[in-house]
Amino acid sequence: MADQLISTAVHDQLPENYARPETQRPRLHEVVSDAQIPVVDLADPDLAAVVARIGEACATHGFFQVLNHGVPVELMDAMLAVAYDFFRLPPEEKAKLYSDDPAKKMRLSTSFNVRKETVHNWRDYLRLHCHPLEQFVPDWPANPPSFREIVSAYCREVRGLGFRLYAAISASLGLEEEYVKKELGEQEQHMAVNFYPKCPAPDLTFGLPAHTDPNALTILLMDQQVPGLQVLKEGRWIAVNPRPNALVINIGDQLQALSNGRYKSVWHRAVVNADKPRMSVASFLCPCNDVLIGPAAKLVGDGSPAVYRDYTYAEYYSKFWSRNLDQEHCLELFR
Ligand code: SIN
Ligand code: FE2
Repeated sequence: MADQLISTAVHDQLPENYARPETQRPRLHEVVSDAQIPVVDLADPDLAAVVARIGEACATHGFFQVLNHGVPVELMDAMLAVAYDFFRLPPEEKAKLYSDDPAKKMRLSTSFNVRKETVHNWRDYLRLHCHPLEQFVPDWPANPPSFREIVSAYCREVRGLGFRLYAAISASLGLEEEYVKKELGEQEQHMAVNFYPKCPAPDLTFGLPAHTDPNALTILLMDQQVPGLQVLKEGRWIAVNPRPNALVINIGDQLQALSNGRYKSVWHRAVVNADKPRMSVASFLCPCNDVLIGPAAKLVGDGSPAVYRDYTYAEYYSKFWSRNLDQEHCLELFR
């Protein structure tokens, strides 16, 4: 029901079905605000050092920021600006795009999975399939008028960055540079444009509750003025404050499986705030449905048996969507 969108109304009070029970609230006063996730300058001429730093970040945090990543800063700004313009469209126009069917390849929705959950999340999101662009762009929103052009250009750049990171991640695991790309096959690319309106009770609800990403690699562009992303590290939530012009990268469940658990698909969440709306644009690279995934043979041996069994991405993805977000790590079901 399109009237579930929260970006189409002003809210003075948190509706009841968004309030978490006491034990599930964000406890914002306990969040570590002055910690840093690793930062990697991709223009560093010492390539071996870049690879080592990425490997270290994937193993310790599952998250890192990249600088000098090759995605033009003007395009990042344009992407965020057109995302805000999109969510400012009239309610009737947004209502036409609404769907809560996760199988749809273009939809505007809200919360996480309104069909499954009992408590909702303070988020509206536009979800797009992005590869190949020629196939999907004709179904994307036609408004704002510059939307398709800007988002297509952004998607192309992000895809290139994703593959450069796949090469570095492969090398950091001691595998040939092409390994991840070859093993995961032709990558699908999806985008979630996440809009978190101002929230009347940020201590009672989430934008997105704790979850790990089911895909292989996520590239996150976010509002530099408004923090909200938090990452779990040694039992504590760390606020991620994006560096100017940086993109945030995180390892998804598929790279955790492929690395036989060496690299971590880490719990993260988005919190909301009372003063300002927030935007984030997540780009997901993921295998096609029929691809068989499992620990890389080279990483399995005498001292380190395979932690996960082989499975298809279709099996994984349907398991992921059949559950609530904040349950046990989905990969635990594939041991
Ligand atoms: C996400 O985890 O997909 C979004 C996080 C954010 O909004 O920063
Ligand atoms: Fe996520």
